[in-house]
Amino acid sequence: MSQLDRYAVMGNPIAHSKSPMIHTLFAREMKQKLEYGAILVELGQFAEAVQSFMSEGGKGLNVTVPFKRDAWKLVDERSECAALAGAVNTILIREDGTLFGDNTDGIGMVRDIRDNLGVQISGKRVLVLGAGGAVRGVLGPLLEEKPGEVVIANRTPDRAQELADAFEDYGRIDGSSFDDLDGSRYDIVINGTSASLKGEVPPLPEGILARGAFCYDMMYAAEPTAFMRWAEDEGCEHTSDGLGMLVEQAAESFILWRGVRPQTAPVIKAVRESLTKDSH
Ligand code: ATR
Repeated sequence: MSQLDRYAVMGNPIAHSKSPMIHTLFAREMKQKLEYGAILVELGQFAEAVQSFMSEGGKGLNVTVPFKRDAWKLVDERSECAALAGAVNTILIREDGTLFGDNTDGIGMVRDIRDNLGVQISGKRVLVLGAGGAVRGVLGPLLEEKPGEVVIANRTPDRAQELADAFEDYGRIDGSSFDDLDGSRYDIVINGTSASLKGEVPPLPEGILARGAFCYDMMYAAEPTAFMRWAEDEGCEHTSDGLGMLVEQAAESFILWRGVRPQTAPVIKAVRESLTKDSH
């Protein structure tokens, strides 16, 4: 049996996951002896897969699409952030065999926007596009930054309103349709819709970006995403995709498992370079 502490990411699909690369780079940098793999889990088989990983001595898991909700249900205890997010992306397998679930997506996004990209969130008018699991997962940490207001806009406006209602105790937050954004201006626009995956952009009214606005896509790609191109067409000079968020959420998982904070900048650079290579 392997002497190394074992970690893995579970999802479906999983072949293109960057998590093994990211955690292997963190481990090398921090001189931690561990191995980190990628496990393809059949739909409906998540609990069994976790059980089998535990029986092989696994110490922790990352969980990605479509199992974050299953992970939330499965764990014995949740962090406050995970409880609020309704989803778990990080599991710590304790010595006594109990499972602790956390959600590091929101803090990962905030650290990328605030610390890596230097965009202050506090006091800003923030527009979040989408009202699915991806958005729900980041709202808690986003509101903790004390933005002036958060508006969630969604193709199905009822879902945006439901989400806004669920988070109303944590800050000033409202739901909207895309059309009703007309006439308002936002300092930060965060795309959390899955439209980007299909190269589409939500149908947004023109002129909703304030002067000097920042646009962030939670998705990432080798090339600027459709949402980033939309922002540039609207005159936005500061856009980013979510690659830094991916690395930052991984760093938060690494801290939970190993108790040390890895440097993320060199890893973001390495993953960016690997994306460019993959696409050629
Ligand atoms: P996830 O967990 O990735 O957030 P989801 O729960 O299926 O996935 O949510 C996807 C989000 O992207 C939703 O907000 C969805 O809008 P609806 O709630 O109206 O379905 C949004 N979305 C997907 N494709 C879109 C498109 N082409 N234009 C605008 N919004 C889109």
